[in-house]
Amino acid sequence: MGDDPASRIYVNNKKKACEYCGIESFEYAMPAETTHEELMALIEKLNNDDRVDGILCQLPIPKHLDEKAVINAIRPDKDVDAFHPANVGKIMIGDYDFLPCTPAGVMELIKESGIDISGKECVVIGRSNIVGKPMAMLLLHAHGTVTICHSRTKDLAETVRRADVVVAAVGVPELIKGDMIKEGAVVIDVGMNRLADKKLVGDVEFESAAKKASAITPVPGGVGPMTIAMLMKNTVKAALVHSENK
Ligand code: GUN
Repeated sequence: MGDDPASRIYVNNKKKACEYCGIESFEYAMPAETTHEELMALIEKLNNDDRVDGILCQLPIPKHLDEKAVINAIRPDKDVDAFHPANVGKIMIGDYDFLPCTPAGVMELIKESGIDISGKECVVIGRSNIVGKPMAMLLLHAHGTVTICHSRTKDLAETVRRADVVVAAVGVPELIKGDMIKEGAVVIDVGMNRLADKKLVGDVEFESAAKKASAITPVPGGVGPMTIAMLMKNTVKAALVHSENK
């Protein structure tokens, strides 16, 4: 929707990944002036199209449109972002079909790195519906002791210093410095912040944090590609479910 430059890059990367995996993708680049009714009509059409197993509306969308209504309109069994309340509820109780792509990608990185979350102090910075909240839930399912920090947290540095696992997802460039990181902690940076000079940086100051961390993800190239991989996984899962029900 519209011409958000970051969204353009994300959508292009998602389309490339589909091509790589052999998933056919259809792009609907809608102008910023698109009405609510037009957008709803498109979602309805895709909901009813048997060739389509997964639907996602790249966020953010223009201010005059109702993001919540858009998320609610996508058929839950085609909701490969796992943003629909039905899917969010399933995640809460640990009985889910799809996981939201970014938190799922973070868990996959942790698992593949041989890191066991059980009993660890996990601190998530950020409480968004897309990342922070579901991230906390997945860490909890993995038996972590989870704290969520946000803009009203009294002492961010002190809380982060306790963490064995830090997941930063606030969208504040290099907010988390090396002196907030416990020696040997695992640091995962979900941030993607474009600076005035066009440089892309995360929510973690990589240089200083890397000196303390036992494992750390870079930006770009850390969590971002995992998000897309998990989107592909969700889409294949949706296709399998739909083919079983045909
Ligand atoms: N905007 C930022 N992250 C995401 C995402 O994971 N999915 C969608 N649809 N939009 C986003």
